[in-house]
Amino acid sequence: KKAVLAYSGGLDTSIILSWLQNTYDCEVVTFTADLGQGDEVEDARAKAKAGGVSSIYIEDLREEFVRDYVFPMFRANAIYEGEYLLGTSIARPLIAKRMIEIANAEGANAVSHGATGKGNDQVRFELGFYALKPDVKVIAPWREWDLVSREDMLNYAKAHNIPVERKREGSKSPYSMDANLLHISYEGYDLEDPWCEPSEEMWRWSVSPENAPNEAEYIELGYRGGDIVSINGVAMTPAQVLTELNRVGGKHGIGRIDIVENRFVGMKSRGCYETPGGTIMLKAHRAIESITVDREAAHLKDELMPRYAKMIYNGYWFAPERIMLQQAIDYTQATVNGDVRLKLYKGSVQVVGRRSDQSLFDERLCTFEDDQGAYDQKDAGGFIKLNALRLRMNNVTGVLK
Ligand code: ARG
Ligand code: SIN
Repeated sequence: KKAVLAYSGGLDTSIILSWLQNTYDCEVVTFTADLGQGDEVEDARAKAKAGGVSSIYIEDLREEFVRDYVFPMFRANAIYEGEYLLGTSIARPLIAKRMIEIANAEGANAVSHGATGKGNDQVRFELGFYALKPDVKVIAPWREWDLVSREDMLNYAKAHNIPVERKREGSKSPYSMDANLLHISYEGYDLEDPWCEPSEEMWRWSVSPENAPNEAEYIELGYRGGDIVSINGVAMTPAQVLTELNRVGGKHGIGRIDIVENRFVGMKSRGCYETPGGTIMLKAHRAIESITVDREAAHLKDELMPRYAKMIYNGYWFAPERIMLQQAIDYTQATVNGDVRLKLYKGSVQVVGRRSDQSLFDERLCTFEDDQGAYDQKDAGGFIKLNALRLRMNNVTGVLK
C-alpha cells in the first residue's frame, strides 16, 4: 500500500504524513512543487526524510504552470464573479496531474492532500485525480481525523515527534495563505469579518497605491498567439514574463483585491488577493485583442468567459466542456500578435497604445476626414431602416411613462 502526498514541508502536511503512516499503515511518497510560491522547496527534503519517506519528489514546475495553465486561462480573459483572477484555482489541476503521474510511476493506488473539507481546493484536487485516474483512492485527512484546533495539531505533533519550529510557528502569518507565480491569497483571521479592513502588514507582494512611486512607468508587451513573449523588447519565457510583471506591478501597487466570493461547496468566503502581473496581463490582453479579433468572435468569447471561469473555479479543468471551450478560445488567438504599451501608476494600469501587423483596425473606415470612398454613408440608411422595421410595428409609446 502506497500513497502520494502533496507535501509542503510545513507543520500541517508533516502531521498528515505521520497520520497517513499510522492510520493506513502505508508507505508515503511525498511531492513538493515549486510553483513560484517563494518558499525554498528543497527544505522539504530533509523533513520528508526525517519523516521516514524514501521516495521524495521535489520539482520546479514554474514554466509548465505558466505556459500550460496560466497563459491558456488568460487567453480567455477569465475572471470569477467579476473580480477574482483564479490564482489558486488554476494551480490545482497541475498539482493533481503530477501527483497522478507519480502515483502511476510508483505503483501507488492512493493520493492525499491537506485541503480542508470546507473549501474549493479539495474539490479541485480530487476532480483532477478522478479525471486522470478513475479508480484512485483519495485520502483527505481533514475530513477524517478529529484534530479540530491548533492545540490538537500541536499535541499530535508532540506525541509523534514531529518537529514544530517554534520560531516559524510564532512568526507565522495568522492568515490562511496560498501563493504561486500568479498570486498570493489571504483568508481567515480578521478577514472573517467582511467589514474589517485588512492591515497594511498583511499584504506581501505589493506596496499600497499611496506608497507607490510618484513617477509613472511605461512598459511594452509583445504578443504571439495571445501569449506574452517579450517585455520592453526582451524575449522571455512564460515564467520570466510573469515574474517580471509581478515585480513591476507590485512596485506600482497594482492588483490588490478584497472580495467576498461564493465557494463551490456553498458558503460565502472573504478573501484578499494580490495578483500584480495577472492584473497587467488581463488589461493588456484585452487591448491586443481589441485590434486583432473579430467583433462577433470577441463578443462570443466574452459571453462564454464566465462559464469558463466557473469551470476553473469549481475544479473542472480536466473536463470535456473546459477542453472544448479552450479549443474555441485558442482558435481566436492565432491573429493575436503585436504590441501593447501600458502606463503603470499608483495602482492603475492604463493602455496607451496597441499595434499589430494583423490589425483589423482600418483608419480609412473610421476616419472623420475624407475616406476617399472606402465607406459609403448612404448604405447606413438602409441598414438602420431594416433594423427599425420591428420597432416601427411594435409601437411602445403606450407603455412608457
Ligand atoms: N478562495 C480562493 C480559491 O478558492 C483561494 C483559496 C486559497 N487556498 C488555500 N489553501 N489557502 O481559489
Ligand atoms: C481549504 O479549505 O483548504 C482552503 C480554502 C479553499 O480550498 O477554498
